[in-house]
Amino acid sequence: MSKTVVLKCGGSTVHQLSDSFFQSLNALIENNWKVMIVHGGGPDITNMLKALNIETEFVKGQRKTTEAVLEIAEMVLAGKINKHLTNLLQQKGLNSIGISGSDGEMLQAEFLDKENLGLVGKVTSVNRSVVSLLMENGYIPVVAPLARTVTHDTLNVNADLAAAAIAQAVGAQKLLFVTDVPGILDESKQLIKEITPSKIQSYIEDEVITGGMIPKVQSAMTTLSDTLKEVMIVSGQQAFIENDDFKGTKIVREQEVSST
Ligand SMILES: Nc1ncnc2c1ncn2[C@@H]1O[C@H](COP(=O)(O)OP(=O)(O)OP(=O)(O)O)[C@@H](O)[C@H]1O
Ligand SMILES: [Mg+2]
Repeated sequence: MSKTVVLKCGGSTVHQLSDSFFQSLNALIENNWKVMIVHGGGPDITNMLKALNIETEFVKGQRKTTEAVLEIAEMVLAGKINKHLTNLLQQKGLNSIGISGSDGEMLQAEFLDKENLGLVGKVTSVNRSVVSLLMENGYIPVVAPLARTVTHDTLNVNADLAAAAIAQAVGAQKLLFVTDVPGILDESKQLIKEITPSKIQSYIEDEVITGGMIPKVQSAMTTLSDTLKEVMIVSGQQAFIENDDFKGTKIVREQEVSST
């Protein structure tokens, strides 16, 4: 049976992906995993907005998106970063095709909170035919997190939430959030190897988990299912597979805590 893994590559790490990261990616492919990638782009979007003197503001971790911000977000996500990542994969010998979530009506969305966030989308449905077509033909789809409304307006979508919605829609067995930290760190900055939703909830309340880590753990908690049994947070700066085991933080349902 084919197994699918969705990797979300953070904008925080997309320019620093290490050789050992690609070795782990290759190991997945050699083990017959079908791979697809969704990417973010926060820092590049912020830099471009700054260069063009366009104001930007975050509300509860999501970027407030005006028409001007959306124009830049689309240019940076579907242009600069999407092509950078696709080219990088090709350089490593991995066939990949970059697309925007707004292509082929792949990601459909409605306004998340038009009044406070502007042109930010909440994914309502995913048309998996485009990515399935690519994966079945040996390509890694590289998806920029943009979506369309039913009236064909483009919306900016948080990449963590987009990756989770896609993972669910394609029936992925694994979802990996590739970011700039080795995983979830506890109050003493030690790596947590395995964590369940109830512990995550208390870490959010105690502000041990903050900022950009929040949409990751929240999407993990809403996406875990009988098919998608584990979501991982891993680093893009090192190997995420070592001795046949995944390295980082494993988020599992309460009943699936490993006995070791
Ligand atoms: N408990 C925690 N453990 C580890 N990192 C945490 C924790 N709480 C907050 N963070 C922050 O979460 C950040 C990762 O999320 P961030 O949104 O910055 O990156 P990304 O999602 O990979 O990139 P992008 O948002 O551009 O796609 C870390 O760099 C760290 O600062
Ligand atoms: Mg983020």
